[in-house]
Amino acid sequence: MSTTLDILILGTACLHVLLTPYTKVEESFNLHATHDIIMYGIGSERLSHYDHFVFPGAVPRSFIGSLILAWLSRPLVGLASSFGWITTKLDIQILVRLVLTTLNALMLCLIRRSVSRRFGRLTGLYFAIITCSQFHLPFWMGRTLPNMFALVPVNLATYLLLSRAPNSTKPSYWITHLAIGLLTSTAVILRSEVLLLLAPIVLQALVSGYTTFASIVRVGVTAGLVSLALTVLVDSYFWQRWPLWPELAGIYFNVYEGKSAEWGVSPPHTYFTSFLPRLLLSALPLSLIGALIDGRIRELLFAPLVFVGLISALGHKEWRFVIYVVPAFNVAAARGARWLTGIRKGTIFGRMRFFIVMAMISANCAVTIIHTQASMANYPGGLALSAFNERYSSTDNVHVHISNLAAQTGASLFLHAHAPPYPPYLAPPRASHWTYNKTESLDAKSLTVSTRITHIIAESTSDFDLQRKWTLVDSVAGFDHWEKNFAVLKNGGGLKELLAIVTMAQIDKLYILERR
Ligand SMILES: *[C@@H]1O[C@H](CO)[C@@H](O)[C@H](O)[C@H]1NC(C)=O
Ligand SMILES: *[C@@H]1O[C@H](CO)[C@@H](O)[C@H](O)[C@H]1NC(C)=O
Repeated sequence: MSTTLDILILGTACLHVLLTPYTKVEESFNLHATHDIIMYGIGSERLSHYDHFVFPGAVPRSFIGSLILAWLSRPLVGLASSFGWITTKLDIQILVRLVLTTLNALMLCLIRRSVSRRFGRLTGLYFAIITCSQFHLPFWMGRTLPNMFALVPVNLATYLLLSRAPNSTKPSYWITHLAIGLLTSTAVILRSEVLLLLAPIVLQALVSGYTTFASIVRVGVTAGLVSLALTVLVDSYFWQRWPLWPELAGIYFNVYEGKSAEWGVSPPHTYFTSFLPRLLLSALPLSLIGALIDGRIRELLFAPLVFVGLISALGHKEWRFVIYVVPAFNVAAARGARWLTGIRKGTIFGRMRFFIVMAMISANCAVTIIHTQASMANYPGGLALSAFNERYSSTDNVHVHISNLAAQTGASLFLHAHAPPYPPYLAPPRASHWTYNKTESLDAKSLTVSTRITHIIAESTSDFDLQRKWTLVDSVAGFDHWEKNFAVLKNGGGLKELLAIVTMAQIDKLYILERR
């Protein structure tokens, strides 16, 4: 059974990558860094090709996550292309994302094992099912955001702290130290907010006597200094700025200068009232039950709750800043589900409880299916550029301008099929002399005047002269909203009608134009 559950977790994660292979703007720094490392290598004479010198983003981010991902993926790219499984650059993007999601899924499998060991196999089963029934964690853990890189070591630490025999009250010294060291490195290199999770874990370790204050200081300082040296060396090199500590630069920019507030400020309770319910779905009420009935769960949830409380003090809030607490809440929810289905089995109350738990998990699945469908239609830029590459695959001298929306919704470097770099293990492209132009804020007039540009992937056609200057070649639709369609209920009918109650409304998002 254990292997089946591992396959379930891994399969769900990979399925999300295959269903939505394209990426959005938030992922692009790490995605493009991974692209550049795989395609160009890291020699200093190759750095000038790197994308981040052209599009640096608001704050510098660490290359270390991308470096590890690229080094893990590179041999697999070679292997897969020798089998003929990789024929385009987009296939490499998919493979890179599969590698990342596999790493995250393996950590969840480890947590599942420790749950089985500590709380019983049925609780482990519920943990796997609840995790797979949710949307955000499985969907996002294969996306190249710094948070999803940080999730790997954070989940490893969660596993280490959770994993012990049912009757033991403490993890061993060295396990505690390893977890604290991992979290310290993650905070220094990848995501500084992990420090807010580390603080309550350290407090708990001290109060419960897992280790001593002197040892924690020793472990923390050692891990902190080694990680600091690593990130400063690696990132100063890749950014060509000396000395650079990206996470400190991020704190300076976002917290000290308060720039993150420019992305929007939410009220203090937002994580508790909006983001956690959305991340957890029905695991939230189940986790409350788990916390009520089992002291070990209360101990487990202490640090995540303090973390969410602390990070609520920052004005700018995003659900992905608190993704790290989802596995711990799912453990609590699994414990709650196990308790509900385990008592008074065989009686009518027992059966009712079982039914309630199944209904809650099914509700998660329904929400996830709806979200997944909407997401699949939410990358018009990726679809448009793929269609464009296909349509003009034997045309030379194409100079295509990619609008902002297209660049943000999937037109990543891996879709520059007909422009260099051409990796030697892919078949050479049939078309040559292509330019993919992502220059921002060019209006219809300047695009028309600039005669070098032969094609446009535009957000709207209204300002273009479609009579004389441009031809509309194709349009690409994307998700717009859900339409509730209660009329079908009146006609009665079966499952098919029931499924038609909500239908997805799509509208044209992008247009492919060709110069006349
Ligand atoms: C915990 O349980 C295991 C197996 O049931 C047993 O071998 C071990 O001695 C127990 N440890 C403590 C501290 O009670
Ligand atoms: C993109 O197009 C603009 C406008 O014609 C031009 O100024 C710019 O140099 C182009 N960029 C590239 C990379 O060719």
